[in-house]
Amino acid sequence: MFAPRPVPEHDLAAMFEAARWAPSSFNEQPRRYIVGVADAADHDDTHARILATLFEGNQIWARHAPVLALGIAVHTFATSGKTNKAAVHDLGLASAHLVVEATVRGLSVHQMIGLDPVSAAEAFAVPDGAEVVTALAIGYADEHTDAAPELRKRESKPRTRQSTDEFVFAGRYGQAASL
Ligand SMILES: Cc1cc2nc3c(=O)[nH]c(=O)nc-3n(C[C@H](O)[C@H](O)[C@H](O)COP(=O)(O)O)c2cc1C
Repeated sequence: MFAPRPVPEHDLAAMFEAARWAPSSFNEQPRRYIVGVADAADHDDTHARILATLFEGNQIWARHAPVLALGIAVHTFATSGKTNKAAVHDLGLASAHLVVEATVRGLSVHQMIGLDPVSAAEAFAVPDGAEVVTALAIGYADEHTDAAPELRKRESKPRTRQSTDEFVFAGRYGQAASL
């Protein structure tokens, strides 16, 4: 859930600067973003049009995010036209840099796979060979909103992750490295 508070332009610029410096396979930099800021200057209604591409379950809360973005992976190498197997990885890595920069600046980023990539590609003239993979909702987290109870419940659930033993292996797959 997001507070009704705009994201300063310099913070937004810094987040994409962090994404810019993410390493990528062959330095191909196959990540692209389309950004919409929910303000009077929302260029070509980008925020509203990104929102429209999201699944309903995401629209319910993402509409409150002052900034929405689409994460796009370019699947083919610019020079050879060959498939870049690392494209989605490198989009994710760039987004990870963006998330860290946002977090340092007190901002919150909620990524989404729940969108219609075909309508998103059509809406923003995404060329062949490039794929809309994710959306990112960016803003200030707000626990005191009047959001629906089920959303509040989801947000307040304890955060959980696997232990490192469950995913860091040594010797063979499945054998914990016991770090
Ligand atoms: C690539 C990606 C796609 C995600 N897609 C969605 C989504 O469509 N809708 C949603 O509500 N959360 C989505 N999430 C958020 C995850 O569900 C969330 O990060 C995970 O449950 C862990 O929650 P926590 O970071 O609050 O502990 C996505 C996260 C990532 C990284």
